[in-house]
Amino acid sequence: MSVIRVKKLIKVYGKDDVVEQALNGVDLTIEKGEFSAIVGPSGSGKTTLLNIIGGLDKADSGSVRVDNVDIGRMSGGERTQFRLHKIGFIFQAYNLLPVLTARENTGFIMQLQGVDAEQRRKRVDKLLHSVGLGDKMDSPPGKMSGGQQQRVAVARALAAKPALVLADEPTANLDSGSSENLLMIMSRLNEEEGTTFVFSTHDMRVIRKARRVVTLEDGKVIKDES
Ligand SMILES: Nc1ncnc2c1ncn2[C@@H]1O[C@H](COP(=O)(O)OP(=O)(O)OP(=O)(O)O)[C@@H](O)[C@H]1O
Ligand SMILES: [Mg+2]
Repeated sequence: MSVIRVKKLIKVYGKDDVVEQALNGVDLTIEKGEFSAIVGPSGSGKTTLLNIIGGLDKADSGSVRVDNVDIGRMSGGERTQFRLHKIGFIFQAYNLLPVLTARENTGFIMQLQGVDAEQRRKRVDKLLHSVGLGDKMDSPPGKMSGGQQQRVAVARALAAKPALVLADEPTANLDSGSSENLLMIMSRLNEEEGTTFVFSTHDMRVIRKARRVVTLEDGKVIKDES
């Protein structure tokens, strides 16, 4: 079954004479278990597409089905629940809660999902170590670098074991060691738990690891290679 089915997606920003056609009729189907990259020049529509697939933004027309449910037809509350249980986000705006430590931020979504404390603690520990933040577990985001915050966001997204992970340039703020590490975590989850990954990237190391590369240009898919 397809995890994502996008049809004729159109998104225009702005009004009147200053319109920006961010998506210009995108069709895209992603099957369960894919490890796929969306690439393309700056402004080609990658972030817009991921935002709409994740229900963070709305298309002007076209349809988006995630797990065979039309997210464009959901109410705000339904969409929030859907995201919480199905999708992990690794986005550039980290959205970490400033008053929580790395440990608490990482466990936050699991807590909302009702995972018990002991299980949460184990998984948070393991993930923070694997993203190289074993020594920062009790620090709040304000005491970390951008790349470290990004890694907390990664740990948080993966902690809840979502069926689908959407990542917008996940390695953009990471040094090469951390990028390698993150890629390893991602591909291990993909192989061992069947988690579907769709990520946008400019990073050649990430592109090389992808099993499918979809190229956007001017809001359209111009190439799709496995
Ligand atoms: N909130 C917004 N308001 C107006 N225009 C926007 C907005 N967000 C994106 N755009 C425009 O839509 C187009 C697609 O932007 P998008 O952010 O999806 O590109 P991108 O492929 O992610 O680029 P990058 O590689 O630089 O991140 C661009 O022309 C951009 O200027
Ligand atoms: Mg972008």
